[in-house]
Amino acid sequence: MENKVKELCDAASSAINAVTDLKALDDIRVKFLGKKGEMTTLVKVMNELSADEKPRVGKIINDARNQIKTLIDDKKAELKAQELQNKLASEKIDVTLPGRKIYRGHLHPLTLTLNRVKEIFMNMGYSVEEGPEVETDYFNFEALNLPKDHPARDMQDSFYITEEILLRTQTSPVQARTMQKNSDNAPIRMIAPGRVYRRDDYDASHSPMFTQVEGLVVDEGITFADLKGTLDFFCKKIFGDTAQIRLRPSFFPFTEPSTEVDVSCMMCHGTDEHCKVCHGSGWLEILGAGMVHPDVLSMSGYDPSKVSGFAFGMGIERIAMLTYGIDDLRYFFENDIRFLQQF
Ligand code: PHE
Repeated sequence: MENKVKELCDAASSAINAVTDLKALDDIRVKFLGKKGEMTTLVKVMNELSADEKPRVGKIINDARNQIKTLIDDKKAELKAQELQNKLASEKIDVTLPGRKIYRGHLHPLTLTLNRVKEIFMNMGYSVEEGPEVETDYFNFEALNLPKDHPARDMQDSFYITEEILLRTQTSPVQARTMQKNSDNAPIRMIAPGRVYRRDDYDASHSPMFTQVEGLVVDEGITFADLKGTLDFFCKKIFGDTAQIRLRPSFFPFTEPSTEVDVSCMMCHGTDEHCKVCHGSGWLEILGAGMVHPDVLSMSGYDPSKVSGFAFGMGIERIAMLTYGIDDLRYFFENDIRFLQQF
């Protein structure tokens, strides 16, 4: 009997030694110590022994069981430690490798410029109005004193959708929309930013889609001096205190008199005949403006004998090009990250 126990002990011990994974170890546990395991079967054989032999052999078997159990527990701990080591080794990361840079997005240069323009006018008490990009012929032309056969319609080659509907060629229709919305003929001080569309070829200074900001002020006693003062103030805010403006006579069907406004060159201040920005002239055209035509006021329900107004319209791309020193309009629309990252 003792020999049998020793044999089993040795067999268990060498099997445990040889085992390399937890599953196989558990199989060994079941084989020797389980309910039908070999050690358990030995206990049953004990019944055949004499009463005085039973305690001695019982102790031997118990000791052997305990011994095997200890061996299994130790092996189990060893295998678990091994498993952890393997896991750590296979999941090892090199903490000295530089991390991947996360790029933060930011506002587009046109949005930055537009926000700046809006802020300047909002600080002067202007409201911000909006109008649709798909506009009616009536608001885009007719309500602005450009009847159907008016030759000035040729000035802006338009994207027509139907005979009566087109992509707006300017933000000026928002002038008429705002006046007509004010059924009580309240005074107006508003700007209207937005996209406009013209059938232009796409090159360094033209794009079939660009951004304008319209301005309209209507009240009693508004004069050309108010227009000039407002635009002078705006230019000094956006281009710096040394900026000056110059007004040239011009023509727009919806303003009378009309003017084109130049700002003094912020690159060379008129001192460099080879200046890339103003080409030596010292002046840069930045917007169109004028006193609202009496017919435009009356068509939208305001009485030109009681109120007067001024209006202006500027291109945001142009202002962004001047403030950031950009010489090609297309950069704004091509989403080249090397360009956009600079703002
Ligand atoms: N709408 C004109 C343009 O697009 C600009 C303008 C606006 C002129 C308001 C006068 C008054 O060229």
